[in-house]
Amino acid sequence: MRPEAAEPPGGLERFVSPGKGRGLRALRRFGVGELLFSCPAYAAVLTVSERGSHCDGCFARKDGLSKCGRCKQAFYCNVECQKEDWPMHKLECASMCAFGQNWNPSETVRLTARILAKQVNCNGFTIEDEELSHLGSAIFPDVALMNHSCCPNVIVTYKGTLAEIRAVKEIEPGEEIFSSYIDLLYPTEDRNDRLKDSYFFICDCRECITKEKDKDKLEICKLNDPPSAETVKGMIKYARNVIEEFRRAKHYKSPAELLEICELSLDKMGAVFEDSNVYMLHMMYQAMGVCLYVQDWEGALRYGQKIIRPYSKHYPSYSLNVASMWLKLGRLYMALNNRTAGVKALKRAIAIMEVAHGKDHPYISEIKKELEDH
Ligand SMILES: C[S@@+](CC[C@H](N)C(=O)[O-])C[C@H]1O[C@@H](n2cnc3c(N)ncnc32)[C@H](O)[C@@H]1O
Ligand SMILES: [Zn+2]
Ligand SMILES: [Zn+2]
Ligand SMILES: [Zn+2]
Repeated sequence: MRPEAAEPPGGLERFVSPGKGRGLRALRRFGVGELLFSCPAYAAVLTVSERGSHCDGCFARKDGLSKCGRCKQAFYCNVECQKEDWPMHKLECASMCAFGQNWNPSETVRLTARILAKQVNCNGFTIEDEELSHLGSAIFPDVALMNHSCCPNVIVTYKGTLAEIRAVKEIEPGEEIFSSYIDLLYPTEDRNDRLKDSYFFICDCRECITKEKDKDKLEICKLNDPPSAETVKGMIKYARNVIEEFRRAKHYKSPAELLEICELSLDKMGAVFEDSNVYMLHMMYQAMGVCLYVQDWEGALRYGQKIIRPYSKHYPSYSLNVASMWLKLGRLYMALNNRTAGVKALKRAIAIMEVAHGKDHPYISEIKKELEDH
């Protein structure tokens, strides 16, 4: 992604203006008062003294703006403006909470942070370990040259801060190299919402065109009296909301409260969705994460066992998400002294990782050692 527009606005063209670098010139007549073009801000930040009288999102001047519930220092027209601004405001919200009125960086610092954050969201990479725990963020200029596909032919893994790109499909001469920028669990519409928000494009890969996996990903309960289209639509909306609610709640709710969100939503969605439905899987995955966090190994294992089969079906054949799920399961079985199941699961993880990470990756040596030690 580049901040400048790929195409000049209609009736205009980009050209090299001698001695002035790039310029814009008219391709047709424009009358006095006619709009030549308009351009939304790439990044913007409301000045501190106007806080509360203008919307932090759209800059509209208005009475009765509503406050950000967390920091109480950002003001919005409505939920839409707040949602739109959240990717930027979240850079500041936590420190505004912590420092209150003392939080006072200059406008340039704030704007720079926003511009960099956008660039980093689009061109940056998050480094994760073998269980997909977040290790950090980094910029890899060459890796960032790869475009995205939901049926990628390579996977990016890390050895420390070194990024490695390995083929997970045969690649013929002349074929473009595609990695995936996003979690491929979700159906086409959700994936493209994500791509649009963070990378500013819509994907036209085979999976996005055929939507082949969407039906399985959104599996509905097989009942004698199946739920209506309306009910299903409502439940999908509920699922997306609860996913967002949970994402936020993670920062301030207790493990018990978080588990309750998972269980309540699984109960509610279970009336319409099969267990293999990706929204069910999403909440089970979150629940498993909470169980791991509070060291409830049995609880984590129960969720993991329900997740793994549908996971393997929804993801491509070589997937780090599937590998890490086998790995977590294997380690849980081992910790709970079910060696047979543990060995089987760890071997499934290794089979994927030998392709994605390469046979000599330290993670694989570690797992092989775990197999021997038990
Ligand atoms: C990490 S860069 C990839 C390299 C980029 N094409 C470039 O010229 O620098 C990410 C950007 O590439 C573009 N891009 C990547 N995959 C794409 C795809 N499948 N369809 C359309 N645009 C894509 C989007 O503009 C995205 O924000
Ligand atoms: Zn607004
Ligand atoms: Zn806030
Ligand atoms: Zn796609």
